[in-house]
Amino acid sequence: MALVTWDKAYSVGNALLDADHRIILDLLNQLHDAADTDQSRIVVGSILNALAEYTEHHFRREEVLMALAGYPRTDEHVASHRQLEARVGTIRSLWAAGDRQALNEEVLSLLKKWLTGHILEDDKAYGPWVEAASAGAETARNPACDQAP
Ligand SMILES: [Fe+2]
Repeated sequence: MALVTWDKAYSVGNALLDADHRIILDLLNQLHDAADTDQSRIVVGSILNALAEYTEHHFRREEVLMALAGYPRTDEHVASHRQLEARVGTIRSLWAAGDRQALNEEVLSLLKKWLTGHILEDDKAYGPWVEAASAGAETARNPACDQAP
């Protein structure tokens, strides 16, 4: 059974970032399924690596968009990304060292809580800033907006 299901409550109002979040939650579900069905250390480890790497790629994207939007809590948000990366890094190291408890039900639930909590609280907070910046960029690019009414 899926650990987490996408819900519109997770939307931050940006299609690209929402798509990233869906991919991250999907990888988390794959990780949960693989661990739950006792897949090999290599199979579970490769999904864990994919989740960690995609999440880091997504964090960089968010960080650039927040900075471009002038979001005032960017530094705080970046610190929370680094904290999540460190937590996942520890899990990766333990798993690579052969510790199967590194991804037990409790750890997977914590991962779900960290990721969904981050989306619902931290990410949704930048939504209006990123949306306003995107709308501004769209207006600047659209010649129709230059025409007098
Ligand atoms: Fe974030």
